Amino acid sequence: MTRKATITIDGKTIEVPIIKGSCGPDVLDISNFYQETGMFCYDPGFTSTASCASSITFINGDEGILLYRGYPIEDLVEKCDFLEVAYLLLYGELPDISQRESFEQSITHHSMLHEQLRTFFQGFRRDAHPMAVMVGVVGALSAFYHDNLDIYDPQQREVASHRLIAKMPTIAAMAYNYSRGCPLPYPQNRLTYAQNFLNMMFAVPSEPYQINPVIARAMDIIFILHADHEQNASTSTVRLAGSSQANPFACISSGIAALWGPAHGGANEAVLTMLKQIGSTKNISEFIERAKNKNDPFRLMGFGHRVYKNYDPRARIMRKACHDVLGQLNINDPLLEIALELERIALEDPYFIEKKLYPNVDFYSGIVFKALEIPPSMFTVIFSVARTVGWVAQWNEMMTDPAQKIGRPRQLYVGEKNRNFSKSK
Ligand code: ACO
Repeated sequence: MTRKATITIDGKTIEVPIIKGSCGPDVLDISNFYQETGMFCYDPGFTSTASCASSITFINGDEGILLYRGYPIEDLVEKCDFLEVAYLLLYGELPDISQRESFEQSITHHSMLHEQLRTFFQGFRRDAHPMAVMVGVVGALSAFYHDNLDIYDPQQREVASHRLIAKMPTIAAMAYNYSRGCPLPYPQNRLTYAQNFLNMMFAVPSEPYQINPVIARAMDIIFILHADHEQNASTSTVRLAGSSQANPFACISSGIAALWGPAHGGANEAVLTMLKQIGSTKNISEFIERAKNKNDPFRLMGFGHRVYKNYDPRARIMRKACHDVLGQLNINDPLLEIALELERIALEDPYFIEKKLYPNVDFYSGIVFKALEIPPSMFTVIFSVARTVGWVAQWNEMMTDPAQKIGRPRQLYVGEKNRNFSKSK
């Protein structure tokens, strides 16, 4: 029997069905709430709103658990590579050997860009932020791949999804090389997804580029950790854009735009800037005090999360990867010492304890990127490469959801009431 909640408003009682998920909080089905009460629900920032039903990613923020299709992130990082995780997110199951091979084959063979898209880059200033280039070029894909724009054809949706996953590393590496005045790279089919990305980023025609396996593994881990994270701001943006039946390239471009902000994907760049600004462990307490001061806009970047009220499991993996990478590459980065000490002090501080503010995935990723010689402007770009898998998986799920309809939130109007028109002479 369906459980129901009763809500009484001004003496009128209505029943609201309670829906149970497979794990996580139950939800109140308020889809008829306006019809029955004449009222909207007000929830700025969607802190109490489940915008859709999804079976892709589950987060238990209180316990610090992250599952992709039911598998703990820790197991996936240890036992899979990025393309296996991408397959899992897209299709719901881990691939067997032949599925893995044909998926890899498809992704590999869609990684080149239409040659005319290469000229598109020339329109950008060399000092453009690569995220600006990503938004533009990914949006422009819809002007080049007309053969898979029918969003109601599952096969065309699949091709568009593979194209996006395959072309994102190429576009990202092109954006980087354009910014530094180097030739725009071509993908290499013999390499893995992570190796190919590194090769496109750093190889130059004048000499061979040796791919360091430590760096390739770290890149693969970064891709896996960022692949999906349920209904965050950028994923919700992709879903909302897709709900109007926009094409997938336009939808993913809107996701990239939402990811760019420093409160979301841009935080890893901000963490590195902050650590450099702190400069020495001696100055940490001053910055902790600033973060606690309501009158100071400064926040401890890489700390706090809307959902995690415990240690972000991705941050734990990234912290270890950071130690491994710096150790294996024999790098002594003073920023790691500052980060570790900052984390230790913050985790003992009553302000951070009381507000349940823990390091998030971005806290250590900047230091890993730095060790990999990836410039800060590319951090969020790499995040967008990885998250494309989650975005297309979520978009595909939405397209096949019978409950799907155009997203159209309402509002609490607080503006002027109907006014008599008068114009000053
Ligand atoms: N430093 C200092 N205080 C903080 C921080 C922080 N990093 N994060 C939250 N707080 C405080 C807020 O001031 C607020 O205090 P109050 O209750 O006294 O007003 C309280 O903690 C709750 O914070 P909110 O901003 O209301 O929480 P919200 O869920 O809206 O924000 C967010 C989450 C945006 C991630 C926030 O913690 C933040 O700005 N962190 C820094 C940026 C960052 O690291 N972003 C990356 C997120 S992970 C990702 O996108 C991959």
